Amino acid sequence: MEPEGAGYVAAPGLDRPIYVHRTAQGSYSAVLAECTHRRCIPEPAGDRLVCPCHGSEFTLAGTVLEGPAERDLPTFGVEVRGPLLVIETGGPK
Ligand code: FES
Repeated sequence: MEPEGAGYVAAPGLDRPIYVHRTAQGSYSAVLAECTHRRCIPEPAGDRLVCPCHGSEFTLAGTVLEGPAERDLPTFGVEVRGPLLVIETGGPK
């Protein structure tokens, strides 16, 4: 089993960071850290991302759990290429 981990990374051309999460099973998710309610930056809190502005909650993979946000966080493809973790920033899905 691999260690779980997460953090924000900056990406050129984006005015919000990307939140990358690695599960204990070794899979990755990458979401745009921009709340779909009014654009605040959600923060990690346990197994969720919580928006500090009005309290919306999302899974670490971006699925909305609690409003007022009604839409999931945009996601990016993630690929492991040898020692590299490549986040496809051509545009959120
Ligand atoms: S901006 Fe995130 S809940 Fe309002």
